[in-house]
Amino acid sequence: MDVYTKTLNQTGFALNAVLDPVAQQFVEFTQGASLPVLELGCAYGMSSLACLGNRVTLILNDLDERHLRSAMERCPVHQRNHLVLLPGDLETLPILERSLAAILCCRVIHFFDPDKVLRSLARVRHWLAPGGKAFFTVESPYLGIWPKFYEDFQRRRHQGLLFPGHMRVRDYVCDNDIAANLPEWMNLFDVETLSEVFRVSGFQVESCQFIPRPYFFEQLRLDGRESVGIIAVKH
Ligand SMILES: C[S@@+](CC[C@H](N)C(=O)[O-])C[C@H]1O[C@@H](n2cnc3c(N)ncnc32)[C@H](O)[C@@H]1O
Repeated sequence: MDVYTKTLNQTGFALNAVLDPVAQQFVEFTQGASLPVLELGCAYGMSSLACLGNRVTLILNDLDERHLRSAMERCPVHQRNHLVLLPGDLETLPILERSLAAILCCRVIHFFDPDKVLRSLARVRHWLAPGGKAFFTVESPYLGIWPKFYEDFQRRRHQGLLFPGHMRVRDYVCDNDIAANLPEWMNLFDVETLSEVFRVSGFQVESCQFIPRPYFFEQLRLDGRESVGIIAVKH
C-alpha cells in the first residue's frame, strides 16, 4: 500500500494506515471510553477507524464530505453503526459541551492562521469532558523545503511571539512546483511553541515531542524533527 493518498480538495496528502505515536496513543486511550471520540480533519479516517475495535462511538469530521463517504466504505460493515460522519469546518460542528472523551487531529491546524488555531482549540476544550484528552500533530519548521526559514523561526521565537511559525510560503520555498501545492500561508510549530499554544488555550500538556517522518517525500524530510505531536488534558 502507498504511504499517501492525495486529498480530493487540494489540502495535501492523507497518510494511509501510518499510525504515528500520537494516533496510536489516541486509539489506546479510547479503550473503555464511555463517551464518544472524534477525529477532526480525518480525510479518509485511516488514523482512527482502528478505535472502532474498542467498541466506542467514533465521530469523523472533514471539510470534504467525499473523504468521509470513503471512510464509511472502508469501515467494516459490522462496525458502521458506531461511526458518525460530521462534515464541515471543524469550528462549526454542533457538538455538545463536555460530551467527548478524546479528540484526534492530525496534520490540519498548521493550515490555520493564529486566530483560527486559538478558536479551534477553544472549541476542542469546550467539547471535551473533564479529564478528556486532545491528541494533535502538526508540521514543524524543520522540513527540508524551507531551509531559509529555520533562522527566522528561531529569531521570532526568541522575540516571544506566540506564533513564530506563521509564514508566507513563497517567501521561503524556492521550488515553484512545491509552492504551487501548498497554501499561501502556513503556521508551523516546534515542541515549545505548540506546548505554549495549548497552555494558553487552557490545557495541561501531558507530552509534546518531535515525530520523525522517514516515510515523508524526500524533499520534506530533514533530521527526524519533521512533525510535532502533543497530548494535552482538559481539567
Ligand atoms: C493534510 S490532510 C491530513 C489528513 C489526515 N488527518 C492525515 O493526517 O493523514 C488535511 C485534512 O484536513 C481537512 N481540513 C482542512 N481544514 C479543515 C477544517 N477547517 N475543518 C475540517 N477539516 C479540515 C482537509 O479536508 C484534509 O482532509
